[in-house]
Amino acid sequence: MTTQTILVTGGAGFIGSHTCVALAEAGYEPLILDNLGNSDRRVIGRLERIIGKAPRLIVGDVRDRALLDRVFRETPISGVIHFAGLKAVGDSVADPITYYDNNVNGSFVLAAAMHAAGVQTLIFSSSATVYGDPDRSPIPETAALRPANPYGHSKRMVEQALADLQHAHPAWRIALLRYFNPVGAHESGLIGEHPQGKPNNLMPFVSQVAVGLRERLAVHGGDYPTPDGTGVRDYVHVMDLAEGHVAALRHAEKQPGLTTLNLGTGHGASVLEVVKAFERASGQPIAYDVGPRRPGDVPAYWGDPTLAEATLGWRARRGLDQMCADSWRWQQGNPNGYE
Ligand code: NAD
Ligand code: UFG
Repeated sequence: MTTQTILVTGGAGFIGSHTCVALAEAGYEPLILDNLGNSDRRVIGRLERIIGKAPRLIVGDVRDRALLDRVFRETPISGVIHFAGLKAVGDSVADPITYYDNNVNGSFVLAAAMHAAGVQTLIFSSSATVYGDPDRSPIPETAALRPANPYGHSKRMVEQALADLQHAHPAWRIALLRYFNPVGAHESGLIGEHPQGKPNNLMPFVSQVAVGLRERLAVHGGDYPTPDGTGVRDYVHVMDLAEGHVAALRHAEKQPGLTTLNLGTGHGASVLEVVKAFERASGQPIAYDVGPRRPGDVPAYWGDPTLAEATLGWRARRGLDQMCADSWRWQQGNPNGYE
């Protein structure tokens, strides 16, 4: 059997690089297209050490239609996993047009190039952010969609456009995957998340405190209606997420259609539970101060992954302790990312 090539846009990034490992382990050949706007080409050498073969990297932009046409013409591609996009909520509020251009226009250019090339299998990175402040948790896929910022709107718009595309062209096979909070790193410690500048997200911030790059964590709010007063989220190990993409691809290969699935664990953890788990994993104390709430934050939510399990036979297997242990291994071995 010939190896199937999967185009992975944004494959040099955090979730994309881990998904390349899962794809290779499942017998696919990942082909990465990334503009390196939020990633480092040295990830390729790390992937080579894990997979045993360096994936091909095309440095370019997903909005470059001529480039995409050339890629589809030159390489037989059986499916696309589309991670390329921008993801900082605050930046999306400050500069919405850049976000709509990257996330929405980028997805449209990609879908049009796929259509022209006759490639009809697409796995799209959506986000639990499309639910906004949900009425209840765990959140099912049928919950109302009420994104609260341009980033969330951009994901919802692409979801809608892809659903319309699949309706118009029923031969398409599309999965919209709504991730909850991806954290952790590959267990080798060779690849992981390295945000540029001060991290916005909890886990990278905590691990930078543990390794001594930052002094104290600011806990954003201690007066939420949660068991310990701090915000609750559904943290999911990035390798579980990566395996979820392979499962979604296999599912799409079986039959045309559109599937929308939550990828989460079904459980929430509070900020202080994450801090304690990281202290256990690293053996380092995490200094923190409880400060004011962060504007725009939702108190607590977690996903209902029942449909993903029923549809894909996929379930998150790695718990919070492993998420912290793997983040710590990566952080300790690579305090400056891929430098
Ligand atoms: P990331 O920034 O690490 O990866 C995204 C990659 O896409 C980067 O390597 C970046 O250089 C590349 N990229 C961005 N715009 C591009 C463009 N126009 N053309 C080509 N490459 C481009 O982020 P991530 O955490 O791996 O997220 C991947 C996807 O998952 C994103 O679409 C994000 O919105 C979505 N998502 C992430 C989270 C999260 O918390 N990490 C949660 C839900 C959804
Ligand atoms: N938090 C702190 N201190 C920090 C950072 C975060 O206390 O320095 C708290 C937040 O207030 C929240 C929790 O930790 O209660 C998680 O915050 P993150 O910033 O790590 O994650 P969010 O849930 O805010 O958002 C993330 C991504 C979004 C994505 C969403 C999907 O940043 O892009 O998950 O559920 F849409």
